[in-house]
Amino acid sequence: QKSGYASFMAKEIHEQAEAIADTLVGRFENGRLTLEDMLIEESTLRSIDKIIVVACGTAANAGEVVKYAIEHWCRIPVEVELAHEFRYRDPIVSPKTLVVAISQSGETMDTLMAVRHAKEQGAKVVAICNTRGSTIPRESDAAIYLHVGPEIAVASTKAYLGQISACYLLGLYLAQVRGNFYGDEIQAVLDDLEQIPAKIQQVLDGSEQVEQLARDMVDATSVLFLGRHVGYPTALEGALKLKEIAYIHAEGFAAGELKHGPIALVEDGQPVFVVVPSPRGRDSLHSKVVSNIQEVRARGARTLVIAEEGDEDVLPYSDVVIRYPQTRTLFAPLLTIIPLQIFACELATAKGLDVDQPRNLAKSVTVE
Ligand code: F6R
Repeated sequence: QKSGYASFMAKEIHEQAEAIADTLVGRFENGRLTLEDMLIEESTLRSIDKIIVVACGTAANAGEVVKYAIEHWCRIPVEVELAHEFRYRDPIVSPKTLVVAISQSGETMDTLMAVRHAKEQGAKVVAICNTRGSTIPRESDAAIYLHVGPEIAVASTKAYLGQISACYLLGLYLAQVRGNFYGDEIQAVLDDLEQIPAKIQQVLDGSEQVEQLARDMVDATSVLFLGRHVGYPTALEGALKLKEIAYIHAEGFAAGELKHGPIALVEDGQPVFVVVPSPRGRDSLHSKVVSNIQEVRARGARTLVIAEEGDEDVLPYSDVVIRYPQTRTLFAPLLTIIPLQIFACELATAKGLDVDQPRNLAKSVTVE
């Protein structure tokens, strides 16, 4: 069933264009976005004054990405919290809080407990889930399913992209219901979102460059990942993939934190991935990241730069440039994570490791 791929993880990475097309299909009709299992009343959604995303691991990284979009579109404050931290903090939750529980399996015990805790305080809960009939969506008030198909590999890839895409639909739906956005505006954003599967395919078609890089780096003992804005959770997720399947020490940082500590780690030859935002977006964001590349390179780092097609500013400071197609800044995380998934998968394969069943990990963590 691996369809010629060396692992389920490789197969699932390469299925992502189709998977995300399936997440998005049939959601927009007659000028309105509709979500079939969104059973929370519109009047309730209009009264929401805070969103708390609860999740673990990769699903929490997806939450960190979508926080930027939902706040930008809906002007509602969004907190993202690891489910196991949320529960033990006496969190401030009220009937005006919308809790978004992201879980591929729908069975993660910590996330389930966070859902129960939120419901006890009167919050409405929407589950972002891949598995129909699983516990978390059953106990939630509403659900948005990913429709990415079963994910077999322990390390999550296509579900991560599906979680981000489904949360984008939720954000757009809230913007529609609350009147932040009207039909044409939503249509414009959705049009760009609908182009994402083809762009994912373009990134996948160019995967040989990253596969070769991974094989060349099979002896790496430490890899750092930097990003700003939506590139920051991308850096965290890239680092998580590498540690969980290739057992390499990996850390993701917000690039702005460099001078507050992490830059001390950089010495000659240290590989550093940098996720660079579009130069067409907010200027200051792009130029700040370019100066971060310069800073680490000046201290000997080997810079592995993920930059938009046509971005020439990165060239003088990059040892390797990996390109992604142009898109909205908020949608770039659906593209920029892919080279990092491929890197981890290929490096672990080159090390001869069991990519699909990494040591000490289970696909679904049903204990606290
Ligand atoms: C990492 C990974 C885990 C899961 C986490 C939550 O690749 O797969 O970090 O994301 O255990 O799982 P779900 O989404 O099933 O709640």
